[in-house]
Amino acid sequence: MAFNTEIFQKLKDNGSYDFDFLYFEEIDSTNDFAKKAQYDKCGKVKVIISSYQSRGKGRLGRRFISKKDKGIYFSVITSNLDEDHISLLTVAAAVCVCETLERETGDKFDIKWVNDILYENKKICGILTENAIDTSTGTFERSIVGIGVNLYGTIDSELKNIASTVEEMTGKTVSCEKTVFDIVCGLTNYFSCTDTRKYLEKYRQRCTTLGKRITVNNVNEKYSAKAIEIDEQGRLVVETNGRISALNSGEVSVLPQETQEKEK
Ligand code: BTN
Repeated sequence: MAFNTEIFQKLKDNGSYDFDFLYFEEIDSTNDFAKKAQYDKCGKVKVIISSYQSRGKGRLGRRFISKKDKGIYFSVITSNLDEDHISLLTVAAAVCVCETLERETGDKFDIKWVNDILYENKKICGILTENAIDTSTGTFERSIVGIGVNLYGTIDSELKNIASTVEEMTGKTVSCEKTVFDIVCGLTNYFSCTDTRKYLEKYRQRCTTLGKRITVNNVNEKYSAKAIEIDEQGRLVVETNGRISALNSGEVSVLPQETQEKEK
C-alpha cells in the first residue's frame, strides 16, 4: 500500500508531538540520507520516510530488502540525547514497534535480541541504529534510528522461511501512515522520558532469546552459549562453559527447539 503524506500530515496535525518529516517515493537508504543531510544540531526530531529503498541497509553490512509499497522504511533523527538514552535506543525502538503493532493488530509480537521484531519466529521488522559523531568535539551529533517494517503481502524471496509481513502473519491490513506515526510518537516520548528502565523491562518481557541456547557468530569466532539476561545497558549476558560475558552486538541465532530440549 502506498504511503499517503496527506493522511500522515493529518495525524501529525491532530497529535501532540512536533516533528518534521520528509517523504520519498524511492530512496537508496533513509539512514544514509539521514546521515548526510544538513540539519541544525538542536532542532526538532526529523523523520525520513520512504516506500522503497534501493539499497536498504541491515546490521553487519547486510542488505535489508525494502520492496516497493510492501512495507514502510523510515529513519528518526534526534540530537542532544544523553548517553543513557543513546545506549538504549534500539531497545526503546523495539518496544515502540511492538507496542504499535500490538495495538493495531491485537496480536503479540516478540523481540529477538538485539534488533529483530518477530511474529511466531518470523522476522517482521528490523532496526538499525547509527550514531553520527561531531569529529571536531568528539561528541554525539545525532542519533539515527532506522526502522523497516514488512507490512503487506507475502515474502516471495529466499527469505520466506525466516521473514514475513504483518498482513500475512496476523491477517490484518494496518495503515502504514498510522504505523509510522505511532512509532515516531513512541520514540519521541522515550527521548524525553526520565525513566529509561521501564523500556528495558518491556523489552525483557518480549525477548524470546532469553533462557535459550544460542550460537554467537562474531567476526572472528563462533561459539555456543546460554542467553541469561539483558543487562542495564541492553547487552545480552551469556554463559559459556561457566564463563559469563556481555555481548554488545554481533549476530546471535537461537538453536532449534529439539536442541533446546536436549541441552536443558
Ligand atoms: C536489520 O534487520 O539488520 C536492520 C534493518 C534496518 C532497516 C531499516 S529500513 C529504514 C532504515 N534505512 C536503512 O537503510 N535501514 C534501516
